[in-house]
Amino acid sequence: MSDQAKNRLTIALSKGRIFEETMPLLNAAGIEALDDPETSRKLILDTNHDDVKLVIIRATDVPTYVQYGAADLGVTGKDVLMEHGGEGLYELLDLNIARCKLMTAGFADKPLPAGKIKVATKFVNCTRRYFAEQGRQIEIIKLYGSMELAPIVGLADIIVDVVQTGSTLKANGLVPLAHMADISSRMIVNKASLKMKNEKLKQLLEQVSSAVDSRK
Ligand code: ATP
Ligand code: PRP
Repeated sequence: MSDQAKNRLTIALSKGRIFEETMPLLNAAGIEALDDPETSRKLILDTNHDDVKLVIIRATDVPTYVQYGAADLGVTGKDVLMEHGGEGLYELLDLNIARCKLMTAGFADKPLPAGKIKVATKFVNCTRRYFAEQGRQIEIIKLYGSMELAPIVGLADIIVDVVQTGSTLKANGLVPLAHMADISSRMIVNKASLKMKNEKLKQLLEQVSSAVDSRK
């Protein structure tokens, strides 16, 4: 690999909270985005460094891009990583941003059925693992969002989703039940990139890491 190629970095991010909370950390490492994903339709954003690009994709697609080397680095929630399985990538750093909890939630006053529990979620793998450990029989109803609706309309007994303030649950008459995992966003790296672009990545990581530490 040429020196020029070794210096090229592609970082995968989702727009919204991950982009907004990650950029100040990348700024601390001297990387500035030249476009705003909220207003631009571009999927590849230039930065103030010719050899550093940001690709803007769905949060759940970030591990896939990094796994296959389409991006060297990515930032994604631990929930997304737990669901993906983490094949082909390393989790480098806890950025301590987009903090929330993965929880079960349902009605406060409704006992769960003795047999199979119907669980609505987009976190199918996490949910299957969690209830298997609990020795509970479940039927998973895969949804892509608005999980809070499922118990209200009788589609499921409970949901598995991320909870931060709890206000979405409350607004829909639900309460948090069991805590499954603490979630924050992680910087992940493609395994081959870590070897080939070690110098460049090490430097970036040190700068981002000290920006994370200085906020604690
Ligand atoms: P997709 O659009 O692909 O369905 P998403 O809607 O989960 O993904 P975001 O809402 O941007 O994407 O969330 C990105 C990450 O932020 C989640 O994976 C989770 O780790 C974290 N997160 C989600 N909701 C909250 C919240 N209310 N407060 C704090 N962090 C959150
Ligand atoms: C997430 C999640 C919950 C909500 C929890 O949704 O799916 O619905 O946030 O946050 P809360 O406990 O603070 O209410 P999403 O990312 O779609 O919505 P948001 O951007 O409004 O948080």
